[in-house]
Amino acid sequence: CGIVGYIGHREAYPIVLKGLQRLEYRGYDSAGIALYNGNELRMSKTKGKVSDLKKRLESEIPTDGTVGIGHTRWATHGEPNDVNSHPHYSNSGDLVIIHNGIIENYDALKKELKKRGYTFKSDTDTEVLVNLIEDVIKNEGVKLGKAVQIALNQTIGAYAIAVFNKTKPDELVVARLGSPLAIGVGEGEFFVASDASPFIEFTNNAIYLEDGEMAVIRREKEVKIRKIKDDSLVDPYLQELQLNLEQIEKGGYEHFMLKEIHEQPNAISDTFRGRMLVDKGIIRMAGVDDNMERISNAKRIIIVACGTSWHAGLVAEYVFEEIARIPVEVEYASEFRYRNPVISENDVIIAISQSGETADTMAAIKLAKEKGAFAFGVCNVVGSSISRETHAGAYTHAGPEIGVASTKAFTTQITVLTLMALKLGKFKGTISNSDFHMYLQEMERIPDKVKTALESDAVVTKIAEIYKDAPNCLYLGRGYNFPVALEGALKLKEISYIHAEGYPAAEMKHGPIALIDEQMPVVVIATKKGHYEKVVSNIQEIKSRKGKIIGIVTQGDEEVRELADHVIEVPETIEALTPLLTTIPLQLLSYHIAVMLGKNVDQPRNLAKSVTVE
Ligand code: G6P
Repeated sequence: CGIVGYIGHREAYPIVLKGLQRLEYRGYDSAGIALYNGNELRMSKTKGKVSDLKKRLESEIPTDGTVGIGHTRWATHGEPNDVNSHPHYSNSGDLVIIHNGIIENYDALKKELKKRGYTFKSDTDTEVLVNLIEDVIKNEGVKLGKAVQIALNQTIGAYAIAVFNKTKPDELVVARLGSPLAIGVGEGEFFVASDASPFIEFTNNAIYLEDGEMAVIRREKEVKIRKIKDDSLVDPYLQELQLNLEQIEKGGYEHFMLKEIHEQPNAISDTFRGRMLVDKGIIRMAGVDDNMERISNAKRIIIVACGTSWHAGLVAEYVFEEIARIPVEVEYASEFRYRNPVISENDVIIAISQSGETADTMAAIKLAKEKGAFAFGVCNVVGSSISRETHAGAYTHAGPEIGVASTKAFTTQITVLTLMALKLGKFKGTISNSDFHMYLQEMERIPDKVKTALESDAVVTKIAEIYKDAPNCLYLGRGYNFPVALEGALKLKEISYIHAEGYPAAEMKHGPIALIDEQMPVVVIATKKGHYEKVVSNIQEIKSRKGKIIGIVTQGDEEVRELADHVIEVPETIEALTPLLTTIPLQLLSYHIAVMLGKNVDQPRNLAKSVTVE
């Protein structure tokens, strides 16, 4: 879901439309745009994609006007259909709104408004909000900004909104709580969006609203920011954007996901650049250095995350316990926050989040902080909410990840967390100097080894061709590669809609083995070292039940090659670093299967890139 807005001297429509396309990666099921041309406020919206909206809008309404707002919606209240799509008008037709997030008390507000004669076309919480704002204007005779503020103070929930009032056509009002919102500041023009990608070619200057802030944007004039709760004025903090256009375009690749898979060698180098001084045997991470006592004395590390980031957390559990000898628990943020977890001041909580905006992860961090824990963030998006909420952190520096299915975020998260474990291990003396050096040297070789792993593409494509119609798929791994099995299965589910399960290989005999027959493809990560022999035994068990075996093996492997139906080779490395390599063919496998099945790889159905609702 995403929002875009423009107020200035140019035609708004092309800017808003292109902006929505840029935000498509966030995942959505319907889209809409409202435009004002100084005379009339017009709107067009539809279930489906931005391309569907373009066709419909251009046949439905004129596209002129220098104010516009646009929205891509990921349904929460009310099914995805034309009526529930945004924007929404108020009853008078003067106000129009777009909204990301949820108004939790919308039902009570709606009942009140109905009593006062308001009617509703849609099932959305958003239509309630816009009428609430209208009601405040009517009853209290205040301006739009004030009315938005009063209305928001009556709501419970999360939002990023943009509201326009055609009777005050030089103003656009925006607000945020729990859902990101950036304001692009140009020459006499302003842009509004969920992130900076929609306006990057127009301006390098942006203001990121903080939670609980709203802004009144006056055409050709100013942005006035206030705290929604207490009305205090906030000095706008203008940031220079680091993003460039090339980073958010496909650059010759057919899909963002494929581009991002191939970016991994560079992304991993970028992650350790400036941090790892191999010759000197030093790892520099400001967020860890500045808080070394606190972090290294942790009685326990609790990792909270969702989705792919949670899988990176599981890999980190193995790495931290092995290298830094600190007990680690890895929690789904959504579960952690809703039980009554035992947390103390001796705990360090690490939040892993590509977007830095995931609502559950954010809430988990807040909870742990309240109980006195030290909060550390591992985020990709610079300046994101989680990176600001945590006491310290380390960015992954993977560059923008646009494909909904996470790839380079995962491998760079593992890279950052491994560096952190090594640093702590060295400080605590739980890793020997020689092992520390060996790790650093090997880490430096990883980008090249990832390149080699990417060369498996041709073999993987053939395997994809054979198994693309399988209804199910099992992924097995042990130790460091158990989380990789989970991640491989998740990738396949996400983009090809094939049911897939990841399992610890040894656990297979306690259930999943019942599923194995000659139809069942089983992807087994069986790299040398670690539990190789044990995994080979697991492969035997699958083979005796006629399952189809796809082995991810170390270059030159003979044993698994004999047993498996197919093997995909990756270079050899230290066991703890194998996830960075074994993940690659699994990403490619899901990618190729999804493409062969004609699925929308970059924007899989029902999924969102950044889940800012609970
Ligand atoms: C969504 C995305 C996943 C992602 C997860 C956590 O479900 O589709 O790809 O792993 O959110 O997102 P985060 O930004 O917190 O890493």
